[in-house]
Parts: sequence; structure tokens; C-alpha cells
Amino acid sequence: MQTALRTSLPETELASRANFAPHARVVREDGPVQTNGLPLSIRGLRKSFGDNEVLRSIDLHIPAGQFVAIVGKSGCGKSTLLRLIAGLDKIDAGSISFGQDIQPEDIRVMFQEPRLLPWARVLANVEVGLGRDRASTDAHARAEKALIEVGLADKRDQWPSVLSGGQKQRVALGRALVSRPRVLAFDEPLGALDALTRISMQRLLERVWRDQGFTAILVTHDVAEAVALADRVLVIEEGRIAHDVTVNAARPRQRGSAELAGLEGSILSHLLSADDRT
Ligand SMILES: Nc1ncnc2c1ncn2[C@@H]1O[C@H](COP(=O)(O)OP(=O)(O)O)[C@@H](O)[C@H]1O
Ligand SMILES: [Mg+2]
Repeated sequence: MQTALRTSLPETELASRANFAPHARVVREDGPVQTNGLPLSIRGLRKSFGDNEVLRSIDLHIPAGQFVAIVGKSGCGKSTLLRLIAGLDKIDAGSISFGQDIQPEDIRVMFQEPRLLPWARVLANVEVGLGRDRASTDAHARAEKALIEVGLADKRDQWPSVLSGGQKQRVALGRALVSRPRVLAFDEPLGALDALTRISMQRLLERVWRDQGFTAILVTHDVAEAVALADRVLVIEEGRIAHDVTVNAARPRQRGSAELAGLEGSILSHLLSADDRT
């Protein structure tokens, strides 16, 4: 039923507005004004691969529209946690709930590799993110709007191969945004970019989060990036959330400010002391 309803333009429009209205609320003055995001509650989550107990007990509540960063040493289970949240892998025990039934389009993941289709032009690559709505009459228009949001409207007819690394990631972001997700999970999306491109992409991520009001979950190995973007930084250690650090700095944030540098230092010292114990 839902699929049939979503193929016509007015219904799709109505659906996206309906999604917005009941959950719209002020999160914080300098965060998203309204949120289209879903809250997330994780209880007693466990995940092992064979004998490797990766997530031992994760308990976490993320309010709708919050921007959360997840850090932790390599192999601690960050990507595993994102995959479980996005429904890409099965949990062993515990629960993940969004407070209501969700559609596949409600949650999107952006990875470090842009994963573009080389045989499809930029606009068609963005349309892929519409999932079941890809065949709808407004698919082109929605993809064009997403390309404008990521500043790539002029590349719509290009092939992925001619784009720079940063531009490819912006196409991947457009593809993630086009379905107006309510939860957007990022798995080290900027890890392969040079420093300047990375900072401009960080600003873009923050802007689209503020404009669209999704709940953002960013896995990053860059603690400076985590404190620059997130409302809250979680440190995963030994399969649990070992530290949950609130970042109260006002937005727009001043990168390199004493406040952010102090937070970054304290999170790094948590990470390094965990390293000393292993
Ligand atoms: N599909 C899988 N099969 C077996 N082991 C896996 C699989 N995915 C992840 N792991 C293991 O789980 C642990 C956590 O991996 P991952 O979540 O990718 O860590 P992170 O993203 O924090 O670097 C690692 O030891 C990794 O080898
Ligand atoms: Mg990972």
C-alpha cells in the first residue's frame, strides 16, 4: 500500500510534509530550528563475529535531530554499530528503536568511498537514493534539488570519473539527502579527502543538517572534526560507550578555539589512555 501511495507526486509531497509536521520542534537555538529527525533508543545491544565480541552492551538514547559523533580506536566496533542502526546487519541481542515504524528511505548511510555508479551520470546517481520513489514523476526534480543543496547543480550531466574526490563525496551526500532521510549515518565520510576539502565538506554537512533537521550519527577518527560538528561525542571502548561528552559550543563554531581544543584534548586523552591499557 505504502509503495503505491508514494509513486504519485501529490502523495509524495504530502508524505514528506506529514513527516515534518508532527515531529517539528525546537532542538536548540543554534541547532536545527525544526527537526525532521527520528529519536533513537538502543538497549542492551550486543554483536559478535564468531568469538570476537565486538559490541558487548550498548545503551544509548539519541534525541530527534541531535548530531552525535562516535569515536574510538580502529576495530572497536564503530562501523558495526552504524551498520546495525542502519539495518544493514543483524543484532545478536538487545534492541534498536526509532519510536515508530520506519521506511527504508528514512535512514541513509554515507561511506568513505562514494560508491557511485560509473555508468550513470551525476543526476542519475543521485536519483538512486530515492529508492522506491525513483520511478516517480518528480524524481528528476528532487535529484536536482539535492544537487543544488550540495552545490553541484552544474555537474548534473557529468560522469563520475571526471569529478574530484570532494565532488564525488558531494554527489554521495546528495544521493543520501534526496530521500529526505530522518536519520543520516556517516561512516568516516571525509576520511579520504585532503585537509581543505575536508573542512569545506564539514561545513556542508553542518549546513544540510541544520537545513534538513535529520538526526546525524557521524563515525570519525578525527576528534577535531567530532567536536567541530557534533552536539555530543561518544567514545566506544571495549564494546561499550565509555564516555559521553556534550559539546555545548555555540554554532557556527570557531575551529581551533580554546573551548573546542580543550574538549578535543580531553577526548584524545581518553582514547590514548585506552590505548595504553591494550
Ligand atoms: N562482517 C564481519 N565479519 C567478521 N568480523 C567482522 C565483520 N565486520 C567487522 N568485523 C570485526 O569486528 C571488529 C569491529 O570492526 P568495525 O566495526 O569495522 O570497527 P571500526 O569501524 O571501529 O574500525 C573488528 O575486529 C572487525 O574485524
Ligand atoms: Mg570503521
